[in-house]
Amino acid sequence: MEKIDMITASFEGTALSGTIRVPGDKSISHRAVMLGAIAKGTTTISGFLQGEDCLSTIQIFSQLGVNIERSGTNVTVESPGIDGWKNPEVALDAGNSGTTARLLLGILAGSTVTAEITGDRYLCKRPMRRVTTPLTEMGAEFKSDHQTGTLPLTVKGTPLKAMSYDMPIASAQVKSAILFAGFSAKGTTVVTEKAASRDHTERMLQQFGAEVQSEVNTVSIVGGQSLQACDVKVPGDISSAAFFMCAAAMVSGSTITFTDVGLNPTRTGIIDVLKEMGAKVSIKQKVEGEGEPYGELTVESSDLHAVEISGALIPRLIDELPVIALLATQATGTTVIKDAEELRVKETDRIEAVCSELQKLGASIEPTPDGMRITGPTQLKGATLSSHGDHRLGMMAAIASVVTDGPVQIEDASCINVSYPGFFEHLNLLSQTKH
Ligand code: S3P
Repeated sequence: MEKIDMITASFEGTALSGTIRVPGDKSISHRAVMLGAIAKGTTTISGFLQGEDCLSTIQIFSQLGVNIERSGTNVTVESPGIDGWKNPEVALDAGNSGTTARLLLGILAGSTVTAEITGDRYLCKRPMRRVTTPLTEMGAEFKSDHQTGTLPLTVKGTPLKAMSYDMPIASAQVKSAILFAGFSAKGTTVVTEKAASRDHTERMLQQFGAEVQSEVNTVSIVGGQSLQACDVKVPGDISSAAFFMCAAAMVSGSTITFTDVGLNPTRTGIIDVLKEMGAKVSIKQKVEGEGEPYGELTVESSDLHAVEISGALIPRLIDELPVIALLATQATGTTVIKDAEELRVKETDRIEAVCSELQKLGASIEPTPDGMRITGPTQLKGATLSSHGDHRLGMMAAIASVVTDGPVQIEDASCINVSYPGFFEHLNLLSQTKH
């Protein structure tokens, strides 16, 4: 993550065509390892994301005494169960992964383990009180030698009591941390959200045999249950597909098909926005059964118009907003993104970073306290952009090169491996496929 790699992307109006299977879903890959480690026995995972974030999760649970073998995208997790974990010898390093750190705080809070959790220089600046404050109310014990509430933090596992928590922000990471703590706590833990965030934790707990009740924006779990090891299939990550979905929508003559891509309704806000902007999106062969829904998705180019993106839609596309901002530069009218102040505490401040980088390409975009305003269509020009060490900013910059009139150079592009190893291979493949 610390190395500076400069990559030049030069696609200038090339139509993108072909069929790809994007790498496995990041959120689901993390949770499959975590639940496989909590359950006693052998869990197998297929389609696992070999990105740096998920490899940090594997490394951490190995340090806790879980035997994890990986062969490409197949992972086997053989665990003594949460009660058999051991204290790690060195700090658990979540790297760049906020999901790993926050969910781990919830998991370890009610375990028998004491461990220090740390991360890279970006993660060590991100807020952790959103999870440590409610977990402390459940009885969790955290220690740190600073007052900022950020990593590094030491968690000392201890018996917890259940709680009812009204979440002040819609965040799947906070919801999941509390549900994991509730899983170990005495009594019934209830979490209520303002708007529905991704529900992978709830679905996967059920897949591992736990009872979880979900109603509109409220989830409850009774503590003291046990999990059954099982087989987990990880579909392709719609947040990774989103970069090429937007590319296909923007460049005339493009058609891209995504096979085996996750279609969980808490994640498909990008499809709703693309359709509302006028793009052609079709879903074939949706498979719904145990676990996560997935299917085949095709996106074709079309004339695009501006939209407003706000309210309950935001958590359903929170990670897609950088590339949606780029898309809006090619749509007619002013796109307004509101209620997205969470973007300020992602891998970087994505409101400032997206606006400053797209302005370098000549885009008409301005930040607002809780989002941005983008007016289009604008013919963008080539420039040198920074990823700010943020994988989604790096990919946004590379995708911008399909609509700029000159090459886009991307500084610090290696961070793209956090969530999408093979991203540039897919970009090259799609730009070369001839009909
Ligand atoms: C994630 C939840 C989201 C998302 C992140 C992954 C998860 O964060 O931005 O990339 O796996 O739970 P918040 O829940 O904090 O919004």
